[in-house]
Amino acid sequence: MATKSKSLENYVPWRARSLPILWDREFGRSAPLHLEIGFGNGDYLTRCAADDPDSNYLGIEMTWGSIKRAAALADRNRLKNVRLLWEDARTALVWDFQEHSVSSITALYPCPWPKKRHAKFRLFKPAFIRLCNSRLVDGGTLTVVTDSADYKDEILEDNTLEKTGMELKLEIIAASFSTKYEKKWEETGQTEFYKLIFHKRDHRTIQNPEVLIVKHHVVPHLDPRNLKLVDEQDPYSIQFKQFIFDPEQNIGLLEVYSHEETIEQHFYIRIKKQENGWKIHPAGGPPLLPVASVQRALDIVKNAAQQS
Ligand SMILES: C[S@@+](CC[C@H](N)C(=O)[O-])C[C@H]1O[C@@H](n2cnc3c(N)ncnc32)[C@H](O)[C@@H]1O
Repeated sequence: MATKSKSLENYVPWRARSLPILWDREFGRSAPLHLEIGFGNGDYLTRCAADDPDSNYLGIEMTWGSIKRAAALADRNRLKNVRLLWEDARTALVWDFQEHSVSSITALYPCPWPKKRHAKFRLFKPAFIRLCNSRLVDGGTLTVVTDSADYKDEILEDNTLEKTGMELKLEIIAASFSTKYEKKWEETGQTEFYKLIFHKRDHRTIQNPEVLIVKHHVVPHLDPRNLKLVDEQDPYSIQFKQFIFDPEQNIGLLEVYSHEETIEQHFYIRIKKQENGWKIHPAGGPPLLPVASVQRALDIVKNAAQQS
């Protein structure tokens, strides 16, 4: 049996926990909890943890390579106050935290998605900021630093105290965090960056969606060349992207974006021919929340298979 690498000691396998996670128990002590979303290589997260040993630091990343690098860094620096979650921040913030449990949230240079048609993928939209509000302690802060003037403008336009419960302040700053992406922007000649500081003024409560046991399908017939998948908008937004099929092995992978409330998920559906028919089920990969939109995506593929 494979043993757990020493450098993964800080990694929190959230699927093996009952949710929401009791972070004081996870860290083995009660202390202010600071969150960094999209920590990249973990330099800033581990630096903060080393400078502030009386607080607990939790990093959330979608990229496994980032988790491994930050875990090794925390291990090398013998940091006992760092934990890492391999998860999309949008699902993590919903399921893994109680209300009023986080002292601060920081995101440095979140993906700006500069193209207009990709703007929908930007993280810091009112629904997500409101979710951050519900997890923050009273008076807690969310800090977002971006190199992108467009992203900054969009956040400023869209944030109102009424929508998010947050009061927003903008500072124009010089490079101050020495992260990989900050250095990259500096190398291109950028000298000014935008620091958006959200102060929690009023509390906002979030209703968590119901968790389901997602039903997989087996269908007797499926023609992969003739699978007509139609995106849906209501009641959940489901978008089908590319479909890759290997005719020799009779295995296909279908890329899906689903969105309901604050839960946006990007995942793959695996389609495989087996003795009793074609199996349609979520492929392995970053942990996926079993909510209604995932079930709907599987059901659409099943119906399309029957009509193919
Ligand atoms: C542009 S990089 C910035 C990395 C680092 N903060 C820095 O300044 O070098 C954005 C990072 O956010 C992560 N990320 C993007 N969307 C995320 C999400 N929804 N949840 C968690 N991490 C996310 C990406 O994997 C990537 O490592």
